[in-house]
Amino acid sequence: MTNTSSNPIGVFDSGVGGLSVLRAMRTLMPNENVIFFGDQGHVPYGPRPLEEVRAFSEGITRWLLDEGAKLIVVACNTASAAALTYLRETFPDVKFVGMEPAVKPAAEWTRSRVVGVLATPATFQGALYASVVERFANGVDILQNTCPGLVQEIEKGNLDGAETRRILESALRPMLEKKVDTVVLGCTHYPFVIPLIERIVGESVRVIDPAPSVAKQVERLLEANGARNMSSSRGRVQFYTSGDAVAVESLLPKLLGESGKVSRLTWDGGRLVR
Ligand code: DGL
Repeated sequence: MTNTSSNPIGVFDSGVGGLSVLRAMRTLMPNENVIFFGDQGHVPYGPRPLEEVRAFSEGITRWLLDEGAKLIVVACNTASAAALTYLRETFPDVKFVGMEPAVKPAAEWTRSRVVGVLATPATFQGALYASVVERFANGVDILQNTCPGLVQEIEKGNLDGAETRRILESALRPMLEKKVDTVVLGCTHYPFVIPLIERIVGESVRVIDPAPSVAKQVERLLEANGARNMSSSRGRVQFYTSGDAVAVESLLPKLLGESGKVSRLTWDGGRLVR
């Protein structure tokens, strides 16, 4: 890490999902500056080929580094599945924190030995997921569902509407019939519908949101590299999107609990430009 500690942490996702990770980071490290990019111009990533998501992730990473990011959080399970290994190889001097479905804590916690994982098709296809299941499932039965359409509903701010409920019920009811007692949120958009998920699955089922542990990992990595911002004032977040800036701006108070100005970037070939 060659940048100074007041440089921003770069955070990106296909859309507003990354705000669930940013929210946990703001709680843990409110004094850090952040630059956040949501690729609403390409959301959803989940049904796309992994190579395409990898190319988007590389373009976004280059832009965040040009903006002086001192560390990059791939706040997207799909982009992590498609690109994390590639990004680490391509930018060997850069520190990355990525997402992987929290199969390990789920397999440790479950009593029924049946765990549900909600994630996108691309995340389930990636080698990262296969390796997490192979290393940590430990004989536990893993049920999967891709919740088609859920990311789009969350992008519209529909956290509790009829369509959102229908998608979640059709994913979760069959899991409940098979005695799932733990549900892993393997997509960063999904923590925003935890209240609805909890109403469907009931109190006895544990829902795992990985965002707080990802925020902890960011903090650990910054500390280990002497890159924590020591300022006592609240850090600034700069928001960018490749989609509709006004629409994203209107969702910030609801999803992040703070408001901010969102600026628009455009894709020019594989590059992001102002
Ligand atoms: N938030 C993302 C994830 O964690 C991507 C969802 C999508 O764009 O399909 O997987």
